[in-house]
Amino acid sequence: MAVGTVLVTGGTGYIGSFTTLALLEHGYDVVIVVSLYNSSKVAVDRIELLSGRRPDFYQVDVTDEKALDDVFAKHPAIDSVIHFAALKAVGESGEIPLEYYRVNVGGSIALLRSMERNNVTNIVFSSSATVYGDATRFPNMIPIPEHCPIGPTNTYGRTKSMIEDVITDCVNAQRSNLKKAGKPFEQWNGALLRYFNPCGAHPSGIMGEDPQGVPYNLLPLLGKVATGDREKLLVFGEDYASRDGTAIRDYIHVVDLAKGHLVALNYLRENKPGVKAWNLGSGRGSTVFEMIKAFSAVVGRDLKYEVVARRQGDVLDLTANPSLANEELKWKTELTMEKACEDLWRWVDNNPQGYRQEPPAELLAA
Ligand code: NAD
Ligand code: WQD
Repeated sequence: MAVGTVLVTGGTGYIGSFTTLALLEHGYDVVIVVSLYNSSKVAVDRIELLSGRRPDFYQVDVTDEKALDDVFAKHPAIDSVIHFAALKAVGESGEIPLEYYRVNVGGSIALLRSMERNNVTNIVFSSSATVYGDATRFPNMIPIPEHCPIGPTNTYGRTKSMIEDVITDCVNAQRSNLKKAGKPFEQWNGALLRYFNPCGAHPSGIMGEDPQGVPYNLLPLLGKVATGDREKLLVFGEDYASRDGTAIRDYIHVVDLAKGHLVALNYLRENKPGVKAWNLGSGRGSTVFEMIKAFSAVVGRDLKYEVVARRQGDVLDLTANPSLANEELKWKTELTMEKACEDLWRWVDNNPQGYRQEPPAELLAA
C-alpha cells in the first residue's frame, strides 16, 4: 500500500524527475503531468530503471483545467501536488513576459482551481531564491533568511513571488471558509520552497539535466566547455566585493533538493501548518572562480575562461540561511558542490546527447 499518491507537474524536467524518483523510492505513488515543453519522456524510463517503479504519465498542459480535472478523476487517491511545471529562463522572461505570466501564474491558478474542485489539498511549490532579489540592500541579510523582504528584479522572479501570494491566499481562504462552515479545514496546506542554485546529476550517470535549448546556467555551461562544445566560459564580472571578485551562489545538489521536497510534503501531511516558506540551500557560498576550479579538478584539466562585463540583473551574493529547513524539516544538504561537479561530469561525459542517446552499457549494468 502506497504512503500516498502525489501529482507531480513537470515531473520529467530536471528537478521534477529527481523528486519523482525520491517519492517512488520512499513509497509514494506518482502521477506526472507535463507538456514536455522542455523535457523528454525518456526521463520516465530512467526513473523506472533506478527505482524499479514507473510513475503514471500524462502529457497535459498545466494551463488546461479540464485535462487536469480528468487526471484527478482517474486518480482519486491523489491528495497532494508538487508543482514544478513552469518556464524558467530569466532573460527570456523579460522578452516574452505575457507568456511567462500565462504559463507560470495562469498555470498555477488553473492547477489550484482544479485542486479545489477535486478536493486535493496539499501543494508543494517550486519557488526560487530569485524572489529575494538583491538581499545585500539590507543589513545582516546574508546568508538570506526567509524573513528577508521579497523583491524580485526580473519577470521570472515576479511570477514566482506572485504564485507564492496566490497559493497563500488560496490556502488561507479555503481554511477560513471551511472553518466558518464548521468543516475540517486543516487539510489545506502549502509549502513554498525557495531553491538556491540546483546542480549536479544522479551518481549513476544515467539521469541528469537535459535542457532542450542552449543552457545558460554556470555548471551546464562549464560542462559544454569540458566537452568541447564551447571554447570557453565567459565569467560575468570580477569586480564584485567578494573574496576573488566574482559573484557568490549557494550551489545545491539536485539529489539533496529532491529530498527537500519529500520532507516538505511529509511535513505538510503530518503537521498541517497552513502555508510556510523554506529556503533549500546549503548555507555555503561559492564564487564563480571556485566553481571553475572545482569543475576543472573533476575533469582533470584547466577549463578555459575569459572575464567579461557583469551580466545585467546579477547580484553579488545569494547564499541561503537554511536554519529553518534544518530545524523544522530536519533536512540539510548532505552532498557538497564538489560532489555535484563530479556527478554532473559523469552525466555529461557519458551522455553528451542527454536523453537523445542510450547511456554506455557499463553504466546501465552497474
Ligand atoms: P525544467 O524546465 O527542467 O522543468 C520544468 C518542466 O515543466 C519541464 O518538464 C517542462 O516541460 C514543464 N512545463 C513547462 N511548461 C509547461 C506547461 N505549460 N504545462 C505542463 N508542463 C510544463 O526546469 P527545472 O530546473 O526542473 O525547474 C523546475 C521548477 O523549479 C520550475 O518551476 C523552476 O522555475 C523552479 N526552479 C528552478 C531552478 C533551477 O535553477 N533549475 C531554481 C529555482 C526554481
Ligand atoms: C551563477 C553564477 C553568474 C553563466 C539562475 C536564476 C535563478 C535560479 C537559478 C530559477 C552567477 C555566473 C553564469 C556564465 C558566469 N533559477 N555565470 N558565466 O543567475 O545565480 O540563478 O538560476 O529559479 O532564478 O536567476 O545562476 O547559473 O546563471 O549563474 O559567470 O556563462 O555564475 O554571473 O554569478 P543564477 P547562473
